[in-house]
Amino acid sequence: SPNRRRLVIGNWKMHGTQAGNATLLDGLRSGASMADDRDVAVCVPFPYIPQASTLLQGSGITWGAQDVSMHAQGAYTGEVSAAMLADFACKLVLVGHSERRSMHGESDKLVADKAVAALGAGITPVICVGETLEEQQAGQTKDIIARQLAPVLALGAQKLAHVVLAYEPVWAIGTGLSATPEQAQEVHAFIRDRLAGQGSAHVRILYGGSVKPDNAASLFAMPDIDGALVGGASLKAQDFLHIAAAA
Ligand code: G3P
Repeated sequence: SPNRRRLVIGNWKMHGTQAGNATLLDGLRSGASMADDRDVAVCVPFPYIPQASTLLQGSGITWGAQDVSMHAQGAYTGEVSAAMLADFACKLVLVGHSERRSMHGESDKLVADKAVAALGAGITPVICVGETLEEQQAGQTKDIIARQLAPVLALGAQKLAHVVLAYEPVWAIGTGLSATPEQAQEVHAFIRDRLAGQGSAHVRILYGGSVKPDNAASLFAMPDIDGALVGGASLKAQDFLHIAAAA
């Protein structure tokens, strides 16, 4: 929709070195003029947030993290608060990525609590949802998405106005097997419908899962796909910029 500004986010996951990041961030900076017409961001590992902030400052490309604590401060060894992310000018943070749901036992409720923590610090939570291959094959996709969305929808329209959703089917993540544009659109429309029920139809919904330079445009052509959450292809400046340009 013309009313929803396109957004493309790179999720570096647990990749990078200071030297490698410098090359990647310089490459992004050189193509950053496209960020005039769309939102472009990278979510980097915690230790590299200051580096991203230094090298992307003034470029129009924004930076953020891949997780955040639901707690404000205190005895939470190993956790990073939303206020700390805000202290480094993070604009966004991923919450509920499937890798965190599956490997770190994050519940639907915890994910919503993390989104609230981010909002409290003025940071946009990018709330990830998606079904596994098993669930998809059992025809449970919409049930799973509805379950994951429930505590998010319960946040209410005022908070939902400041979130982004990302649909990432687990079977499409890192597999090279993207959902087809039609498959993704069907789920995005379902999510949009749920959001509309809360007066929040304008929330941006990104697709993630094997988005590459050669399939990005066809995904972005779908009416309810407002951008992408890009894993592997975000580690090469040229590929990521190509995807962002297609949005
Ligand atoms: O968060 C993005 C991600 O899970 C998708 O990864 O490598 O399939 O683009 P990839």
